[in-house]
Amino acid sequence: MSKYIINGGKRLVGQVEVPAAKNAVLPILAACILSKGEVVIHKCPHLRDVDNMLKILQDLGCKIKVEGSDVTIDSSCVSGGVVSHDLAQELRSSIFLLGSIIARLGKADMAYPGGCEIGLRPIDIHLDGLKALGIDIVEDGGHIYCDACNIKSADLILDLPSVGATENLMMAAIFVKGKTVIRNVAREPEIVDLQDFLNSMGAKVRGAGSSVIVVEGVASLHGTEYTPVSDRIAAGSYIISTVMCGGEVEFSNIIPEHLRSLISKLCKTTCNIHMKNGIMTVRSNGRHPRLPKIDTMYYPGFPTDLQSQMTALATVCDGTSIITENIFETRFKQISEFRKMGAKVDVKGRTAIIEGVSRLSGAEVSAEDLRGGASLVSMGLYADKTTIVSDIFHIERGYEGMDVIYASLGADIVRAD
Ligand code: UD1
Repeated sequence: MSKYIINGGKRLVGQVEVPAAKNAVLPILAACILSKGEVVIHKCPHLRDVDNMLKILQDLGCKIKVEGSDVTIDSSCVSGGVVSHDLAQELRSSIFLLGSIIARLGKADMAYPGGCEIGLRPIDIHLDGLKALGIDIVEDGGHIYCDACNIKSADLILDLPSVGATENLMMAAIFVKGKTVIRNVAREPEIVDLQDFLNSMGAKVRGAGSSVIVVEGVASLHGTEYTPVSDRIAAGSYIISTVMCGGEVEFSNIIPEHLRSLISKLCKTTCNIHMKNGIMTVRSNGRHPRLPKIDTMYYPGFPTDLQSQMTALATVCDGTSIITENIFETRFKQISEFRKMGAKVDVKGRTAIIEGVSRLSGAEVSAEDLRGGASLVSMGLYADKTTIVSDIFHIERGYEGMDVIYASLGADIVRAD
């Protein structure tokens, strides 16, 4: 099992080019099978989740060529529409394929998705939406069987603005005659990116970024070349580490509007963040006043995917910080590992109460999930002595070369097998 070995206490100084967003790339890859033409995705990150999605696409009959960070997908021979148990278990985002397989083949047989252990992660909103489009769904023996012979346009409303359900339904409706209206949708930038990608293949989708999306059915989609949007969560993770450890880091390929909720919290501390000529510079003296209260919420609220990293920062802030997790119920399970490093955190239901300490000490800790694992690395970079973070396969689901990036900023971190 691979691990990171970190000798903490170094300031972070240098430059980071923010990669393309995992959460944009995964639905975009799922959408590739909607086109019979060739699709080239530029700057595709090398991540475990991306590899798993490519394996599923290959299993469905796609021809895939990877050249550096360019991935070419030829879906002309897609057939069958079966996603096996083993592959679906590896990747929660396999659920996006339900919408795209149904649209392309008129039927789908998918094992229930697996993925990050951060909560119940039901898929009722996905299935209700598909049913509203007239799709017959039978759930049996851990599989979801879908038949779209009666598919029709609809005007539907989601119970919650689920990111995955919004993306799935946009794809399911892409060839449906007439106008499909999806209300109470998620407004995340990755949904806007999926819309832009679909439209670059000839789709007619509008409204992404607002709470109503309209899909006008088209007969077919053509090939395209596309570069997905930059990763606001990876950027946010590296920004929080910089603030925590102190230093000065310049971020390129960054979209400050997508990070507004994070920046507005950090700007109430002593760090300094400014944008010039497309570069965001984050400066921190490594001293931390009390954090304002944080409540995770749907975009544009504070992202649940940065909650764990902010909890890590709060462990070394003055006084008591309060962080409430409103999206995924078990996202505090990393906190037992935080405590091994000297953090003082009490969890009451969905709220963490964090008493700041003046030092963290290195320890042997294990990543429990993707973002929790990233937070342990931030704490290890800050802590005295040596921290060993094991089970980093969780981290590598969503961060490419995290060790290389931190090492380039002057951190003492190595990846060991
Ligand atoms: C996506 C992101 C994930 C992020 C999350 C919330 C990807 C690949 N993943 O996950 O990184 O943390 O958005 O921003 O883009 N829910 C239901 N029923 C459903 C679907 C969702 O009750 O059918 C609930 C979930 O339990 C959760 C909330 O809705 O409480 C939001 O989940 P959702 O937006 O669907 O998250 P994902 O798309 O899985």
